[in-house]
Amino acid sequence: MSQLHSLRPHERLIVALDCSEAAAAVQWTRRLRDHIGLVKIGLELFVAEGPRVVHEINDLGVGIFLDLKFHDIPNTVAGAVRSAGRLGVKMLNVHAGGGVAMLQAAALAAEESPTQPLLLGVTVLTSLHEESLRALGIAGPIPERVVEWARLCQTCNLGGVVASALEAAPIRRACGPDFAIVTPGIRASQGARHDQVRVATPASARRNGADYVVVGRAITGAPDPVAAAQAMAEELGGVTPEMAVS
Ligand code: C5P
Repeated sequence: MSQLHSLRPHERLIVALDCSEAAAAVQWTRRLRDHIGLVKIGLELFVAEGPRVVHEINDLGVGIFLDLKFHDIPNTVAGAVRSAGRLGVKMLNVHAGGGVAMLQAAALAAEESPTQPLLLGVTVLTSLHEESLRALGIAGPIPERVVEWARLCQTCNLGGVVASALEAAPIRRACGPDFAIVTPGIRASQGARHDQVRVATPASARRNGADYVVVGRAITGAPDPVAAAQAMAEELGGVTPEMAVS
């Protein structure tokens, strides 16, 4: 059985370290490490600080989701996945739009990596509207594309997808209980939305089938970030997914 089913509530919480300095990232990790599952390092931080920040956070014993969304030819992406595997990250991602050969090559590279990181596909970016997809020659409602591409990722042996909490339920129905669903755009019930348009609470994301929630400013911008993380973990632990699959 997949380890997705036995995670403790706080282990489902991924904090986005959206900063550009390793020192700040390490400080946040130290502060929050007992209350979260993983930290997410994205393009801003990785481009600024490189593998050094990954090593520093690894040394604190906190797992990393390396959110670099690889999208290139199969050979190049497989090499990047192998390099990320050597860094010891627990989770990483590639664009589903890279195509079948790229997804398969990435999945094989992740599987052969000694640390076997969880490889996620990014389906349709939440910043894209139906209009922008049409301009790219991709027709149809976004939720349908998201589910279709999630299934494609699963067929190509990826372990899961990054998706909006609002699309988690149809993905869960289409891809079954052992396919990881990681959802950003999370806000506390009474919190600010910032620049996110389609938001969900940790409880509603979990109820819809999310295995992990990615939270940035709702924790790092809270008056008491530890209390905010604890409240979110408690909320995650208080609900059962509607599909009762994890
Ligand atoms: O501060 P906030 O909770 O909005 O941060 C969310 C994090 O998740 C950011 O790092 C953002 O880049 C990322 N993300 C997102 N929406 C996506 C994919 C990633 O908000 N569709």
